[in-house]
Amino acid sequence: MGKRQILVDGDPILRKTSKNVDKFNLRLHLLLRDMADTMYEADGVGLAAPQIGVLRRIVVIDVGDGLFEMVNPEILEKSEETQTGREGCLSVPGRAGIVTRPQRVKFRAQDRHGSWYEQEAEGLFARAVCHELAHLDGQLYTDIMDREMTREEIEADNARHAKEENQD
Ligand code: NI
Repeated sequence: MGKRQILVDGDPILRKTSKNVDKFNLRLHLLLRDMADTMYEADGVGLAAPQIGVLRRIVVIDVGDGLFEMVNPEILEKSEETQTGREGCLSVPGRAGIVTRPQRVKFRAQDRHGSWYEQEAEGLFARAVCHELAHLDGQLYTDIMDREMTREEIEADNARHAKEENQD
């Protein structure tokens, strides 16, 4: 099926708690494929199943180091050290906020076949893990942000990133 429609803030589905996955079958594999397609198509670094209307505990993340598929993920440890920076969400289009998250997290999740794995994440990856797992409990970054970024700040930040990429 490929790309699915992304629900936006205001849709009550985004505020519900997702259920555990207990069947690791073709249906799950097709859903994971659609989630990755949808995330890449939208230029996102992560997507949670409820964002496409599926209330199951499934997340995909790719912050540039390859695709992580996380089924029934749980955070095991959070660093006391934090990071404060820009965060956005495919379900909150056109907006961004300043959000404080742990600098590092350790999580466990099941892969597409049901095997548990543990992984440590740092920086943007850790931020994405915290952001996407919150979706599974009906929470959005706007619930916990330090503050909303202004349109001018977002444009200046975009311009800075575009400049950095051109210098590579
Ligand atoms: Ni999000």
